[in-house]
Amino acid sequence: MEVSVLNRNLNETNGLMLVLPIQENLEFYHELNEVNNKLGNTIKDLIKDKEFEGKLNQTYLINSLGKLNFKKVLLIGLGKDVSIEKIMQAYGTASKYANSLKLKEYSTVLVKAKKIDAEKIIENTVLGARLGAYEYTKFKTKNKNEINKIELFSIITKEQGKKIEDAVKKAIILTDSVFLVRNLVNDPASLKTPLMIAEIVRKVAKNSGLRYKVYRKKDLEKMKMGAILGVARGSEQEPAMVVLEYNGRRKAKKIALVGKGITFDSGGINLKPWEGMTNMKMDMAGAATVLGIMRTASLLKLNINLIGLMPLTENMPGGNATKTGDILTGYSGKTIEVSHTDAEGRLILSDALSYAEKNYKPDKMIDFATLTGACLVALGSKIAGLMANNKDLTKELQNSSENTGEKIWELPLYDEFKKDVESKVADVKNLGHPKGYAGTITAASFLSTFVEKTAWAHLDIAGTAWSDETSNYLSEGGTGFGIRLIIDFLINQK
Ligand code: BES
Ligand code: MN
Ligand code: ZN
Repeated sequence: MEVSVLNRNLNETNGLMLVLPIQENLEFYHELNEVNNKLGNTIKDLIKDKEFEGKLNQTYLINSLGKLNFKKVLLIGLGKDVSIEKIMQAYGTASKYANSLKLKEYSTVLVKAKKIDAEKIIENTVLGARLGAYEYTKFKTKNKNEINKIELFSIITKEQGKKIEDAVKKAIILTDSVFLVRNLVNDPASLKTPLMIAEIVRKVAKNSGLRYKVYRKKDLEKMKMGAILGVARGSEQEPAMVVLEYNGRRKAKKIALVGKGITFDSGGINLKPWEGMTNMKMDMAGAATVLGIMRTASLLKLNINLIGLMPLTENMPGGNATKTGDILTGYSGKTIEVSHTDAEGRLILSDALSYAEKNYKPDKMIDFATLTGACLVALGSKIAGLMANNKDLTKELQNSSENTGEKIWELPLYDEFKKDVESKVADVKNLGHPKGYAGTITAASFLSTFVEKTAWAHLDIAGTAWSDETSNYLSEGGTGFGIRLIIDFLINQK
């Protein structure tokens, strides 16, 4: 979807559909008045009769019957107290509506919100409109022209200048990165084995100016990455670890991003029941998120230095698979008792975290992982769990969450939880409390034992990486959650 900002009057523009955003109980703005007058007071009547109230994501389609140079007018509700999240949702809904009408283009005017800067309004309008239009259609065989595709989105506004242009560019780069992540998460596991992902990442790295290195199985053996290798043992597919680098400015902060890349999680020898396995192609969402962030940071030329680590493997129950009770020696030299082969994410992350800390000495480290079902129980599917060993880093992430509307919530990583991951026979074990108490925190507690001294935060995205519903700017499947959050965080690094 191309985006164009048109510095024209409404009556100098034409098109298939004009979207008018309307807040609940708010005065009419001039474009709304203009259209209302041309349509013979229709919009005011609809509101008076309570047929349209401006509730968030409410829609009402009007045929303009030749009274306007737009064939249709779509009213879209913004609810009360407009926020950037609501702007995104409303335009996500508008794009879904345009898709349902099979429109190739539509236009809008800017949301009026005094408390939000024009460039922020534009950025989030484009974010919502583009994200909302996304559909995963790669494997649909019906006529390609039956597949929806909005080619052009026009914003008619008096606003102009570099800030406005940059906001549009930023939103396009961000949304393209989200699409990349969504596509990767939605792709079938058999088409994204670790080496296939490594190859996809190589191409993205090349096109976005990132340094790329892949460590294959023999390299991981030399490096003594016993935890990753232990998880990979039950699979026919070779594991890998991809390392990406982005160098924005020599003296800027160095931040390591680590993402869980389980390309399919069957549970291993502790095989999952079928319901639990259905969507486990999504268990590489953390790694995909790291790629999406790195691509975005590089294309936006952020003043920051980044290292991205993507440990990649399947978790399968093959004849050579790691068994419960087996003991692995990870990259750090620590021994790990494998009490549950389905708690594989923390194993591969432990090697990647130790590797990042030891070899890059980053200022800060953040990992992204679809780590625990318990996170869905605690926080649901719209909020990611945040656990960290550092208060300032926690605050920074919470601020970026406020700025972007990508929701995170801190869970307490008290030292008390360390005893849950103590092993009788090894240094640590990969399972927490026998009754599963605080499963999200004990997983983080396990990870924390592999971070020696770096400020580190862990985001459990088990709930947020995948959407069960198609609504506003989300589609069923991968969400691309976390890119906007972390890009905001990176922009604010001093
Ligand atoms: N990948 C899963 C967690 C998950 C569950 C992600 C649902 C997304 C949706 C993870 O590897 C896992 O299996 N975790 C276990 C841990 C348990 C064995 C301690 C879980 O949550 O049940
Ligand atoms: Mn698992
Ligand atoms: Zn998993």
